[in-house]
Amino acid sequence: MKYALLELTHSSKIATYQSDLSPFLRHPACAWLGLRPVLAQHTAEEHALLERWAKGRSRIVEIGVAEGVSAIALRENMDANGTLYLIDPFHLSRFPLLNFTKRAAHRAVGRSRRGRVIWIEQFSFDAIRAWKEPIDLLLIDGDHSEKGVRADWEQWSPFVVPGGIVIFHDARLFDAGWTNPDYGPVKLVDALFRNPKTSDWKVVEEMHSMLVVERSR
Ligand SMILES: C[S@@+](CC[C@H](N)C(=O)[O-])C[C@H]1O[C@@H](n2cnc3c(N)ncnc32)[C@H](O)[C@@H]1O
Repeated sequence: MKYALLELTHSSKIATYQSDLSPFLRHPACAWLGLRPVLAQHTAEEHALLERWAKGRSRIVEIGVAEGVSAIALRENMDANGTLYLIDPFHLSRFPLLNFTKRAAHRAVGRSRRGRVIWIEQFSFDAIRAWKEPIDLLLIDGDHSEKGVRADWEQWSPFVVPGGIVIFHDARLFDAGWTNPDYGPVKLVDALFRNPKTSDWKVVEEMHSMLVVERSR
C-alpha cells in the first residue's frame, strides 16, 4: 500500500487507518522508514476527484501538503511536462531538524517521476510575495481558520487562469463527515459561492468535504 485514505462508515462516522496504529507507528518517521504507508487526510472519493481534475493540467499549486497523499494524486495525473508547486512550511514537526513529515512527503511524492515538482517550504502568505506564475489548478488545504482560508483565496485565486479551477478541502458538510458549520473553509465557500451576487466563478463539482470552482473563460 502506497498510501492510506480516510474511510467513512455510518456507524462510527469516520475510520482511519491511523486509528488502528500504535502511537509508535503513527509517528511520521515510520512513514519515512517505510514501516507504514503515508496517511491521507481525505477520502478515496476525494482522491479520485483530485486525480480527475489534475489530468492534463500543467501549472498546479497545492497549499498544505502534510505527508503528501493529495500531492501524489496531483502528480500522477498532471501534464507530463507540467510543474507541481507544493507549499507547506512543515512547521508542526516536534523535531524540526529531523522533520519526518517533510521527509515522508518528499519520499512519497518522489516515487512518481511525472512532470516537475517544486517544493516551497514557506507559509502560503509568505510564498505569495514572490509568486508570478499563472495557475491551472489550485488546491487550498493549509490554514483552516476562516481568516487563513480567506487570505489564501484572496491572494492566490487572482493567479488562476480562465478555465482554471480552485479546489477547497474541508469545505462542505456531508453525510457521516467530519466537518461542521464552524469550519473556516465551510463558512468561506458558503459566503463566496452559495448565494453569489455576481461572480466569475461557478461550482463545478462537490464531493464529500471538497468543493471545486471554475473561473469562467
Ligand atoms: C490538512 S493538512 C494537508 C493534507 C493534505 N493536503 C492531504 O490531503 O493529505 C494541512 C497542512 O497545511 C500546512 N499548513 C498550515 N498552514 C499553512 C499555510 N499558511 N501555508 C501552507 N501550508 C500550511 C500544515 O503544515 C499541514 O501540513
